Amino acid sequence: MKTRIMNKDLSMEVLRDGLTARDVLTNKVNSGGRDDKDDAFFVCDLGDVVNKYKKWVSCLPVWSLSTLSSATTAPMSYRYWPTWGLASTVLARLTEVQKVLNLGVGPDRIVYANPCKQTSHIRYAKKNEVNLMTFDNEDELHKIKNYFPDACLLLRILPPAAEAQCQLGMKFGCHPSQAPKLLEVAAQLDLNVVGVSFHVGSGCLEASAFARGVESAKRIFNIADQYGFDFDMLDIGGGFPGQESAAISFDEIVADLGPALDEHFPPGSGVRIIAEPGRFFVASAFTVAVNIVAKRMVARDIQEFKDDEAEDAVMNSVAPSLCEEPAFMYYVNDGVYGSFNCLLYDHAAVTPTLMRDVDKEEPLFSTSVWGPTCDGLDRIMEHCLLPELQVGDWILFEDMGAYTMAAASTFNGFGKPSCYYVADANMWGSNNHAFIQSAGSAHRHVKDSAITLPAMKRGLCALERLGITQIPSVAVPEV
Ligand SMILES: Cc1ncc(COP(=O)(O)O)c(C=O)c1O
Repeated sequence: MKTRIMNKDLSMEVLRDGLTARDVLTNKVNSGGRDDKDDAFFVCDLGDVVNKYKKWVSCLPVWSLSTLSSATTAPMSYRYWPTWGLASTVLARLTEVQKVLNLGVGPDRIVYANPCKQTSHIRYAKKNEVNLMTFDNEDELHKIKNYFPDACLLLRILPPAAEAQCQLGMKFGCHPSQAPKLLEVAAQLDLNVVGVSFHVGSGCLEASAFARGVESAKRIFNIADQYGFDFDMLDIGGGFPGQESAAISFDEIVADLGPALDEHFPPGSGVRIIAEPGRFFVASAFTVAVNIVAKRMVARDIQEFKDDEAEDAVMNSVAPSLCEEPAFMYYVNDGVYGSFNCLLYDHAAVTPTLMRDVDKEEPLFSTSVWGPTCDGLDRIMEHCLLPELQVGDWILFEDMGAYTMAAASTFNGFGKPSCYYVADANMWGSNNHAFIQSAGSAHRHVKDSAITLPAMKRGLCALERLGITQIPSVAVPEV
């Protein structure tokens, strides 16, 4: 049994009696409850987002969490963040500031985390009392002096080099050796620098990078008073993995990061620690289902000819028989100009899953999967092995929550997939008591791991200081 919660723009299904997100997806594929029967669509399991939140607050001792609205534009997935006490990171756009302010997030809980800001946006931040912002260069300091001299500033530094899915260091962050000069200029301009921020790179591939970032930040804290600053904020950024298949796990990061924070910024230090996880919260919550709209059988071997040889082979009818060596090209109704832009922008790798069981004896064929637009670039998978599929079959791609629909376009007139939200009744409707208890038991669970006691205490404290008073209720407020 499921309860459908609706308002004019959004609906969410509360799942009961063991019904799962996958069941909902299957029902929708079988066209139960969908008008646009063969359009691609997302299912978002909001219970997964709640679980991530529980995991975070029970493992990491942060004073406040910022969540990146750019990682997903799916409204329901960040709608409750203010309820949970999460602030919101604001990146490039004015509209993102507006969006989170409209959600009821106090301006004092927003980090304007773009170190290179448009001046009108700085003015907007001032007007709306969004006081906390980052900088990483001297010109930015002059801009801030002109347009928002009372702002509280975080110096964004380059963390020590680390492998990451998306490197950010080539664009943002000053080398720590430049920090003294920037602090000197900030002091001359009488600006208020309150701390340090860093981002190890999105989808970081080295668990130890976070702890090394903390050490690097600490060195800047150590020299701040020479310039008359009394730092009290550390922003450890994002970069945390969002899915099980990631190269490193959140637990591995915590095992390094927890002790590093304890050592360099212990609870009594008076330093508020904030973080900006983006993909961590949303990546695994979303699955996209795409429909095969067209299919082409090609000779597998012909793809191994050089272009001109292939053409000659076809012209002279010497191409291998399609029947002997078939490969399949499937054209589906979402692609790299849509949700799969993550292949280009996020350097993501995606894995297809079929809706049906595959018999062990069933032959597998060389397969490529293509998006719907007229562009040859629009290819989701160059090669994978799949059983033969038919037009009208569905292919699922899991872990599609981060940096997917957020950057999707409507190129060639193809619309963006709709998103259906579901959440398990126990997860979504549980009361605060149960939530705190479960977060508490998670604490007990991690006690045996490498997380040190002060860090755990601070984590518990974070729950109270985040002012969590209720788990989101099932009533969906107006947009
Ligand atoms: C300033 C800033 N904060 C946070 C994030 C979120 O990073 P992630 O999704 O890797 O956690 C990003 C991503 O680009 C960012 O640029």
